[in-house]
Amino acid sequence: MKPKILLTGPIHAQGLRLLEDLLTVQGDTKNPMAREDVLRLLGDKEGIVLASLVKVDTEFLNHAPNLKVISTVSVGYDHINVEESTRRGIYVCNTPGVLTECAAEITWSLILSAYKRTSEAERFMRANKWIRGFYGLEFLGRDLGGKILGIIGLGRIGIRVAEIAKCFGMTVKYYDVIKHKDADKMGIQYCELDKILRGSDIISIHIPLTKENYHLIGEKELKIMKKDVILINTSRGSIIDERALIESLKEKRIGGAGLDVFEMEPLPLDSELLRLENVVLSPHRGSASVETRAAMAKLAARNLITVLKGEMPSALVNPEVSRIKSLGEVKLL
Ligand code: DGY
Repeated sequence: MKPKILLTGPIHAQGLRLLEDLLTVQGDTKNPMAREDVLRLLGDKEGIVLASLVKVDTEFLNHAPNLKVISTVSVGYDHINVEESTRRGIYVCNTPGVLTECAAEITWSLILSAYKRTSEAERFMRANKWIRGFYGLEFLGRDLGGKILGIIGLGRIGIRVAEIAKCFGMTVKYYDVIKHKDADKMGIQYCELDKILRGSDIISIHIPLTKENYHLIGEKELKIMKKDVILINTSRGSIIDERALIESLKEKRIGGAGLDVFEMEPLPLDSELLRLENVVLSPHRGSASVETRAAMAKLAARNLITVLKGEMPSALVNPEVSRIKSLGEVKLL
């Protein structure tokens, strides 16, 4: 009998095919599943593919006595209690590397839209407000050449964002908890966080959400930024104190923002962000391209299958789990 796994929502057909060839796949391939349905179906599953950011907490794990592997179709894994999964001998895998290009491009689409005021101008047209022809002082954006891009987090995505910035003639500086050994060679200058916040024309965040950087950007940090700075977040919503950001945007203490991630997702329909002109919004789609979603689905499927074959997957978040349960003990295929 094939091992049973749960799939919590639609994934690219190429990934689904890999899973269905070897496993009995239950769940929903059309819509993201509601949490209560996920919990209801977990009992007899040996593996799970998280196609949506379902929270893996104690309650979840208590419903999953047979679970051997959690494979999330995301690079971020802040929705998973990794420590507790490890204690229970569950292998946790993610999808790093394959979404770098897409995430950097989505970041740039937000930067360009916010800095050039593209979305704002489009809203204006769609509201039938363009009643005078071309004239000189409407919807003035800013030019990128010579400006400073401050990157918070110089990992794969941060580096790619920096490389693209160079093509626009920007100066790139970064802050990270660990200095990147090749940053100088890449022409990216390290600065303390305070300097990045004070001196950048555009700030872009590329760090994973951890306990340490929850609300890294709050009222105090927003207050020291340049008055016309554009703040971009494509990492995780809770890195910014959203309430403080809304106040800054409302009072025009900063120039604007481009946000792909939010403290609560989906963004509550009464969020003030939806009514502010100086923010560009995007519904968590940093990895949303056909090519990238196919690559993520395949990698997530391979990760799960590899663990169930008793082999080391290419993207294991918790290698220390093998001390609790060896790969031999989770081998089912
Ligand atoms: C990721 O891969 O972490 C994306 O944000 C999707 O969750």
